[in-house]
Amino acid sequence: MEAMNKNSTMARQSFLFLIFFLHVSLIATCCRAENTQKHAKTAVPLFVFGDSILDAGNNNYINTSTLDQANFWPYGETYFKFPTGRFSDGRVISDFIAKHANLPFIPPFLQPGFRQYNLGVNFASGGAGALVETFQGFVIDLKTQVKNYNKVESRLRQKLGNDEAKMTISRGVYLFSIGNNDYMSPFLTNSTILNNYSDSTYVGMVIGNITTAIKEIYRRGGRKFAFINLPDLGCVPGIRILTSNGSCLEKASSLANLHNEALFKLLFQLQKRLKGFKYTIFDFNTNLKNRMLHPSKYGFKIGEAACCGTGPYGGTYSCGGKRIVKEFQVCKHPNEYLFWDSFHLTEKANKQLADEMWKGKSNSFNDVGPYSLKKLFKIH
Ligand SMILES: *[C@@H]1O[C@H](CO)[C@@H](O)[C@H](O)[C@H]1NC(C)=O
Ligand SMILES: *[C@@H]1O[C@H](CO)[C@@H](O)[C@H](O)[C@H]1NC(C)=O
Ligand SMILES: *[C@@H]1O[C@H](CO)[C@@H](O)[C@H](O)[C@H]1NC(C)=O
Ligand SMILES: *[C@@H]1O[C@H](CO)[C@@H](O)[C@H](O)[C@H]1NC(C)=O
Ligand SMILES: *[C@@H]1O[C@H](CO)[C@@H](O)[C@H](O)[C@H]1NC(C)=O
Repeated sequence: MEAMNKNSTMARQSFLFLIFFLHVSLIATCCRAENTQKHAKTAVPLFVFGDSILDAGNNNYINTSTLDQANFWPYGETYFKFPTGRFSDGRVISDFIAKHANLPFIPPFLQPGFRQYNLGVNFASGGAGALVETFQGFVIDLKTQVKNYNKVESRLRQKLGNDEAKMTISRGVYLFSIGNNDYMSPFLTNSTILNNYSDSTYVGMVIGNITTAIKEIYRRGGRKFAFINLPDLGCVPGIRILTSNGSCLEKASSLANLHNEALFKLLFQLQKRLKGFKYTIFDFNTNLKNRMLHPSKYGFKIGEAACCGTGPYGGTYSCGGKRIVKEFQVCKHPNEYLFWDSFHLTEKANKQLADEMWKGKSNSFNDVGPYSLKKLFKIH
């Protein structure tokens, strides 16, 4: 028992994606509040779900371990100048998307006192997966995130009345990054779960639980869904150090590929089956891979190793010195790196990817589609 607990705790080396920011200043003065309310009548809110790629600080408020938190230095050092809980040196992808959409920072659902949901809310939790078993007990799993969304939906109806709430909800964009931890956790925790299922059955379970989440949000009136697909998981610094020779971990990469294919099919089918359902997928996988292989083309010096951490590729998940391994180094210029820590990207990389997702690339059919995110925000 002891050994098992220890293993699962150690395991918490996850792809925690996370954060937060005390940006509650909207109600400060009379006139700003009025503007905000007018804006809120037509604004397209952003609801964020998933893992540490998008988390803005929910894990600051749950009983978890530092493996699933980033509320300590040097996280946040570049942009905020203090740690917010985001797993980056600065802003994460959802922050840049909110900015493009003319929205303020979207606060974490668990931020104390935050109840103004008209412009959206962030439910994402570093380390979370679509399966409840993924880092169970340390994260807010997808099912619970959707339960939290249901609370928000009820509250919006109380506050705005049914009709206006319905319009707000159907105008909203529902942004997801989920699955990373379902496929990484078995390797990080030495769990035997992948021995118990074929790869396609396991992927089917993850996709099945994502389907349930989408359908629940749809049932409550959500219509516009945006997904970030999975990166080449075997090649992120924190996974690649698990191989003896520093090559990418093939099994993790192939699970991510299977998942991405299944996600593509799922959304395509849902659009045919559910009236008014719209979606877009951003090819995070290809966009990140291009940068890893050709960092200088995108203004980076280092594509494969992390700025903050230790060991080969900076792959040991020790950034900040508050996790299992205490030793870490942090680079002088995060802007030269694609990876901030062994699982997460720098603010500069996050901005590039969010920009790409927002506008799409005119010359690349598969980059983001069937809509650019900008278009998804605009359509009704
Ligand atoms: C997983 O197993 C390997 C090899 O047996 C061991 O070196 C590593 O410490 C284990 N990891 C965890 C998180 O238990
Ligand atoms: C938090 O988790 C730890 C270990 O998992 C447990 O011992 C403790 O009782 C928990 N605290 C609360 C307030 O739930
Ligand atoms: C896998 O199956 C074995 C045998 O049924 C079981 O003991 C083990 O707990 C399972 N592992 C997981 C992670 O579910
Ligand atoms: C959701 O995941 C659980 C394991 O956590 C699995 O047993 C179940 O079949 C999955 N649901 C669907 C609809 O695939
Ligand atoms: C590295 O080791 C893995 C097995 O751990 C093997 O499959 C792979 O071919 C090796 N790659 C190189 C470049 O030696």
